[in-house]
Amino acid sequence: MSTEFNGRMSRRGFLQAGAGLLLAAGLPSSQVRADSNEYRIVAAQARSRLAGPDRPETGVWAYDGTVPGRLVRLRQGEPARLVVENRLDEDTTVHWHGIRLPNAMDGVPGLTQPPIRSGESFVYEFTPPDAGTFWYHPHANSLEQLGRGLAGAVIVEERDLVAVDRDLLWLLADWRLRETGEIASGFSNRMEAAMSGRIGNTVTLNGEVSETEPVRAGERVRLRLVNGSLARIMALRFEEHNPVVVAIDGQPCDPHEPEAGRILLGPAMRVDVVLDMQGEAGRRYGVVDDFYDGLSYQLTELAYEEAPPLRSHPLDAPFVLPRNPLPDPDPAATERHDLTLQGGMMGGGMMAGMGGMNGGGMMQGMMGTAGGPAWAINGMSMTGDGHADMKPALTFQRGRSVALILRNQTAWWHPMHLHGHSMRVLSRNGEPVPHRQWQDTVLMAPKDVVEVAFVADNPGDWMLHCHVMDHQMSGMMTVLRVA
Ligand code: C2O
Ligand code: CU
Repeated sequence: MSTEFNGRMSRRGFLQAGAGLLLAAGLPSSQVRADSNEYRIVAAQARSRLAGPDRPETGVWAYDGTVPGRLVRLRQGEPARLVVENRLDEDTTVHWHGIRLPNAMDGVPGLTQPPIRSGESFVYEFTPPDAGTFWYHPHANSLEQLGRGLAGAVIVEERDLVAVDRDLLWLLADWRLRETGEIASGFSNRMEAAMSGRIGNTVTLNGEVSETEPVRAGERVRLRLVNGSLARIMALRFEEHNPVVVAIDGQPCDPHEPEAGRILLGPAMRVDVVLDMQGEAGRRYGVVDDFYDGLSYQLTELAYEEAPPLRSHPLDAPFVLPRNPLPDPDPAATERHDLTLQGGMMGGGMMAGMGGMNGGGMMQGMMGTAGGPAWAINGMSMTGDGHADMKPALTFQRGRSVALILRNQTAWWHPMHLHGHSMRVLSRNGEPVPHRQWQDTVLMAPKDVVEVAFVADNPGDWMLHCHVMDHQMSGMMTVLRVA
């Protein structure tokens, strides 16, 4: 087997190299080409050993009986057909998060399709224009359905395989488990919804609490990180390793080292990193999430095999991902709109900024009632997962360049997700954002002001919402129309 490569290998050479490198059973090996763009996905109850082999099982809601659901691998630019069958006891839909697809395939009940009733199926058909790391999850009763395990990853393969030794996927999820192993009920707790959202007590990697992940000295890994949590924000550090960020939310960026060595992953975000395994054979290196002060934990450890390094000297060939066909917004002809995020608890227990703004009279009235929404965008609260009478807050003419100035006036973090488009992140708090970052989910710290821009080229009504599920459900959601 050849031990070095420049640029891309032929497909045959690549597959051979990949086959020689299988390290352990159970690792999702991505060295295999998608052999078809057709999937049948069944949503149903199942049982899963989330917390480890010697811990009690957990009743989950799952795609195809596993948590996370089966990996969907699609080929860029080729039509895909995904049949979703609902064997849950309630309505569901599937949203293909981050994929730019026709509006009718977007999976928002009421807005883009009727809900899939229990016992029924829906056929999703689209051609993914962009290669990259995406994911799928329900958009009906989202807080509970995602919180009980309905989530899976989508990899859209580059037309030419990218040269790495291994292509790994870590779908991370956060669960609130009781001692018995069951998922704690009490979804939609109003107090939580007005604060950080439902943060759990157990973080899984590909559906299981992970102690170690096997690696080999000298190998180059493309690691696709997906945060499938309801509310937990992560900041991952790889002890004595230097991950290089090569894509965010599926879209290639200029390769760069993450700020302060921490990979920040809000709920629903994806980050692809390249890791050159320069550690010592036989040693272990922690992967730590230290986002919340005083609550850091070890996600897993990179466990080096007792084997000689895969290559005699480190790779110096850069890792390059081909760009996706995203239209660049035209700065000279951009229309600008403000979207202000409001609400939530303040230190003193008051709802913030909801009463004194434009249209405040109505909001004050709503906030006064016990069941009122906790959050708003520009003074309006859309709640739930999607419904027929959602009026667009803004309408853009198709093909226009649009800039949104997102202002977080709250005391909480919000990963803001736009459906159907990818947004170029231009600036944060007045500072230009480097590395050419495109995102579909932009994480906003308290008081952040972030400017994004995109070409509104995908016709339809598209949701824009916070991906902390409790925040979405309790009002931090709006609809943008491309007409
Ligand atoms: Cu993954 Cu409307 O969201
Ligand atoms: Cu939020």
